[in-house]
Amino acid sequence: MIILKTSDEIELIAQASRIVAECQKVLAGLVKPGISTLELDHVTEECIRDLGGIPAFKGYRNYPNSLCASVNEQVVHGIPSSRVLMDGDIIGLDIGAIVGGFYGDGAITISIGEIDSKKELLISVTKEALQKGVEKAVVGNRLSDISHAIQAHIEVHGFSVVRDFVGHGIGRQLHEEPQVPNYGKPGQGPRLKAGMALAIEPMVNMGKPGVKVLDDGWTAVTTDGSCSAHFEHTITIEPHGPARILTV
Ligand code: MF3
Ligand code: CO
Repeated sequence: MIILKTSDEIELIAQASRIVAECQKVLAGLVKPGISTLELDHVTEECIRDLGGIPAFKGYRNYPNSLCASVNEQVVHGIPSSRVLMDGDIIGLDIGAIVGGFYGDGAITISIGEIDSKKELLISVTKEALQKGVEKAVVGNRLSDISHAIQAHIEVHGFSVVRDFVGHGIGRQLHEEPQVPNYGKPGQGPRLKAGMALAIEPMVNMGKPGVKVLDDGWTAVTTDGSCSAHFEHTITIEPHGPARILTV
C-alpha cells in the first residue's frame, strides 16, 4: 500500500530533507585530497544533529554510520573508513535524516580535484537523469513513467542503469512502497497521486550494469570495476504542477 501524506507530515519530511541538503553543502566544501571518508561521516553526524535531526542510516539494519560514502567503482552504501580521497576520485555522498518521526533521504556525487571528462559526463548524465525522472513525477502519470525517463537519458549516453537497487516511497519509514526502479517501460504501475512522497535515486555505471556487495555486507561495487555515480532527491507529488523537490 502506498501511504499518502498529510501536509503536516510533508512538512516534517521537508525539514528532514532540508537538513540532508544542508549537510551535502557542508561536505561538498570539505571534500579534498587527503580527507578520509570517516572524517566526512563524523561531520555528517554532527551536522545532522546540529540542525535538529537524527541520523537516519546509523543503526538502520545495523548500518554503522551516518553517511554512505561511495568512491569511484563503489555504487552505493560505501561504509566510511580510513580511506583517503585522492585527486581524480569521485564520491557519492548519501545522507538520511529523521525529524518528528519522518525521513528525508538524498545523495549527490562530486569530484575530488581534477577528474577526467568521462567521469565528468557520468556525473552530469546521472544528475540530469534524476531531473528527467522528477519531471515525470506529476499527478496522472504512472510510476514507470519516472523509471523510463531516467533509463532513456542514461542509455542514450552509453552508460548503464543499475538494476539491483531502486528508489522508494518515504515517510515514517525510510523505505516504503512503492519501489521506484530506474528502468522500465512507460505507462505501467500505480498512478501518481498528490501526497505521495518518493525518493528517486538513479545509480549509473560507466560500464556494465552488474553490481556485487563486498564482504562488509554493505558496500556495493560494479562487477567490472567501472566508475559509478548516484543522485537522489526526496520529492512529493503535488495536486497541480511539478513535483516539489525537498532535498534542496
Ligand atoms: N539512500 C539509501 C537508500 O535509500 C541509503 C540507505 S543506507 C542504509 O537505501 F544504511 F540506511 F541502509
Ligand atoms: Co534512498
